[in-house]
Amino acid sequence: MIKTVEWSDEGVRMIDQRLLPTEEKYLTFRSCEEVAEAIKAMVVRGAPAIGVSAAMGLALGTMQAVGTSVEDLEQDFDYFCDIMSKTRPTAVNLFWAIERMRERFRRSRAAGADAEQIKKDLIEEAQLIFREDIESSRALGRFGGELIPDNSTVLTHCNAGALATAGDYGTALGVVRGARDAGKRVAVIADETRPFLQGARLTAWELQKDEIPVTVITDNMAGHVMKQGKIDCVVVGADRIAANGDTANKIGTYMVAVLAKQHNIPFYVAAPVSTVDLSLATGDLIPIEERDAREVTHIREQRLAPEGVSVANPAFDVTPGELVAAIITDRGVARPPYTESLRKLVEG
Ligand code: MRU
Repeated sequence: MIKTVEWSDEGVRMIDQRLLPTEEKYLTFRSCEEVAEAIKAMVVRGAPAIGVSAAMGLALGTMQAVGTSVEDLEQDFDYFCDIMSKTRPTAVNLFWAIERMRERFRRSRAAGADAEQIKKDLIEEAQLIFREDIESSRALGRFGGELIPDNSTVLTHCNAGALATAGDYGTALGVVRGARDAGKRVAVIADETRPFLQGARLTAWELQKDEIPVTVITDNMAGHVMKQGKIDCVVVGADRIAANGDTANKIGTYMVAVLAKQHNIPFYVAAPVSTVDLSLATGDLIPIEERDAREVTHIREQRLAPEGVSVANPAFDVTPGELVAAIITDRGVARPPYTESLRKLVEG
């Protein structure tokens, strides 16, 4: 099992995703600030993995807080929540995890816990979020696996695999693994995913490790392979899904969805319900992160574009819900119209 992030006695341990696939190196972050920095710098990335890491970072921060009263601890905890919430704006799992930790703090306090007990409760909550994430990917994989025909080829964009979650199955790749574990033959075509190359580096790495056949293409080849009849369906992950099914995912996803429609290929989104944001009516309200221009002008240390050139680097785009054939969650599969079906799944 690929371990993306885990709690250890020394701190929060993560595989450094910036170095994959050439180097498999684990780093341990020893304070909440360090975990926040790791999220910002993309040591860890992918919406569910960001949520799990944030929860662990908050638990780590409060564990190290020096004040002895509940009031002191609360002040420190608020500060940690604040720095964590400023790491990455699009993946709603970050804010979902912070709110879960806040809620646990409130419950412990209401139950009369002292500062030491609250610290223990927060560690327990972070570990629970970790375990639930693994279980939810498994559930999502079982639901999604049923939609994948035997002997099929799935196109995916970015990395929505074990590396984008707490580990093990993943979301979009969880669906692929679910199909495989149900005895189906399934192969993957992975868009390289410029500029950070999560497809070429991470999806290819983890599928190879799992012995699932994978072919990497550059992003501008997707239309061609669809036209050649090589793709049976598209499965992507999500960073935030609005109430109407509009889906923010890695930049380039929208382009793939439009191409899939043109070629009558089903386009599926796979994400746990913690990625659904019912507070936003449509995808127009989803904040889109703008990242450093250097990700576009350089590959690692190698400059590609002329110095001083103007660059745009929106990290996500929004695919309209009308292009999405189904949203596969850990609680079942939502079909259009999403305003009703998603609410039903989220609110139970
Ligand atoms: O910028 P990233 O790598 O954190 O982007 C998030 C993603 O990995 C993708 O958009 C993914 O498809 C959704 S997260 C499972």
